[in-house]
Amino acid sequence: MSANPSHDSTGKTPAQRVTVVVIAVVVPIIVVGLLTQPVIGKSPADKNSPAMSPAAVEEDIKPVADVNVGGTAVAQAPGASAAPAVSGAAGKPDGKKVYESTCTVCHGTGVANAPKFGDKAAWAPHLVHGVGHLYETALKGKGAMPPKGGNLTLSDAEVKAGVDYMVGAVK
Ligand code: HEC
Repeated sequence: MSANPSHDSTGKTPAQRVTVVVIAVVVPIIVVGLLTQPVIGKSPADKNSPAMSPAAVEEDIKPVADVNVGGTAVAQAPGASAAPAVSGAAGKPDGKKVYESTCTVCHGTGVANAPKFGDKAAWAPHLVHGVGHLYETALKGKGAMPPKGGNLTLSDAEVKAGVDYMVGAVK
């Protein structure tokens, strides 16, 4: 026997060690088998079990959080409602959000001669025909400006709210 038992914690003959190893391997397998039996055993992929219904499976494997990468998704201010991305609390489209989600890309800096946000001189020639005309061109497009600013997921009301927001900034 070893003079220092701590160097040979088993302190057993080779045959005994083999037995220990076998037990160490086999016992956990049996235990795991027994433990999982009630779970797996009950309905091994029984397609008719309610737990296997598409809805239940969907629920089981769905991601922890949903990520919305839709075109109209707008970064929500902290505390803002999680309601539709560009609609305000009253259900009325929020022109500011529409602008920030879509229009700012060009109108923020004046890309392709887009009348720049807040630039009265740039907007003056566009305003002469009235806001009704601006709604029309914003919806249908004009020159380098694509219909709805290129974001066809916007409703007409949302596009108009975006126009109102930009026009409001140069009045
Ligand atoms: C891809 C760039 C781009 C985006 C995005 C864009 N615009 Fe424009 N917009 C333009 C350009 C360029 C013009 C100038 C067109 C012209 O006068 O020929 C313009 C002009 C306008 C006008 C003036 C139209 C007129 O009749 O004079 C309005 C109103 C307008 N945009 C609203 C919007 C709104 C609202 C959005 C967002 C929903 C938006 N735009 C997004 C490029 C863009």
